[in-house]
Amino acid sequence: MSKLRLHDKKVVVGITGSIAAYKAADLVRRLQDEGAEVRVVMTKAACEFITPLTLQALSGFPVATDLLDPSQEASMGHITLARWADWIVIAPASADTLARLVHGRSDDLLSALCLASESPLAVAPAMNNKMWENPATQNNINILQSRDIHIIGPGSGIQACGELGEGRLIEPLDLVAELVQLMVPAKLQGKRVLITAGPTYEPIDPVRFIGNRSSGKMGFAVAKAAIEAGATVTLISGPVHLPTPTGAERVNVETAGQMFDAVMTDIEQFDIFIACAAVADYKPELTEANKIKKTKHADLQLNLKATQDIVSTVAEQKTRPFIVGFAAETQSVLDYAQEKLQRKKLDMIAANQVGDGVGFAVDHNSLQVLWKSGSQMLPLAPKKQLARDLMTLIIERYDAKDSIKNS
Ligand code: PMT
Repeated sequence: MSKLRLHDKKVVVGITGSIAAYKAADLVRRLQDEGAEVRVVMTKAACEFITPLTLQALSGFPVATDLLDPSQEASMGHITLARWADWIVIAPASADTLARLVHGRSDDLLSALCLASESPLAVAPAMNNKMWENPATQNNINILQSRDIHIIGPGSGIQACGELGEGRLIEPLDLVAELVQLMVPAKLQGKRVLITAGPTYEPIDPVRFIGNRSSGKMGFAVAKAAIEAGATVTLISGPVHLPTPTGAERVNVETAGQMFDAVMTDIEQFDIFIACAAVADYKPELTEANKIKKTKHADLQLNLKATQDIVSTVAEQKTRPFIVGFAAETQSVLDYAQEKLQRKKLDMIAANQVGDGVGFAVDHNSLQVLWKSGSQMLPLAPKKQLARDLMTLIIERYDAKDSIKNS
């Protein structure tokens, strides 16, 4: 018999004050049906809508409600629960709860638990549609998403207040389907993914270099998305100021030459190579041993020579991974990307417009993804979300084995 999909998951379900709180009972039941171990935390407001006893009976465990309840602190206090949970799911999540999460409040058990936990958090908002549409709530949602908190729903339809619109708690069955996707994203389980990110710096002398504006944000987001999809990830990074995504093996490099060497070491071990780095195409022919003095030259000429093309070299290997390149263009984005897809013998290419405050360094981006037999536009979104969407496409094409083979 196949295992239940959430058989190894410990889930804290947080219930907050909303008329939709009664649906949380169904949610708890359905999570258990999928094999999850569930503990329930309720806010004071939630207890006005549904009794803890109901949730205790369903979950089979006492429901935690108070931050400072001595008996609960002794057994399942917020720290213990924070450590116990593989996932925290807040459903329904009221507008007030979203605001509290944004501000890192910790004056009730649920908020303190969220603040103390390193586990992934999913929230299913439920509120009046005007409250949902309010810029304050939308701003809070954007902030939570930028912190990698998963927002599920809300749905739309007739609301308890009689209004029609967005703000209903997503139905428990659909909610569980979404949660399973999030919690069991094992499409790349057992696969090794190599990702390059950031700029390269090509030294002119000990203090100067030729570089570019890449911040590494896109590549690091791609690394995170690959980890979420179950892959074992090696991230080769140029000089950036970003923390390593949890679970990635990071190799720091500075120059295109160093990035080339790092990529080519063990390249045959990788299933997928995603070249997101903005690698210098040219480097100074000579790196001066000492700082070039201004007085020495009226005008200064630098002789540049081409760097090795990393992604093309990988594509020439007999045993080659599935290769995804990026194309950063200031004009004719699609034409140049199509040309690079073919010339560099890539399986896919993700093209983006850059310059004038787009593409490089910012938090949002859009991508036009091309492969031999198709294309897809990924519209403007936070890079973290965009990376997840890109990863979904990569997995689809990788599964379809739409890759170029060298004979
Ligand atoms: O880092 P961010 O601030 O988040 O910005 C993201 C980004 C704009 C850098 C990213 O989305 C992006 O477009 N990365 C590729 C940038 C680039 O160098 O594109 P290109 O068109 O010059 O190169 C095409 C492909 O060849 C790329 O996959 C590149 O990694 C690869 N290449 C280029 C030169 C070289 N010597 N070796 C290579 O492998």
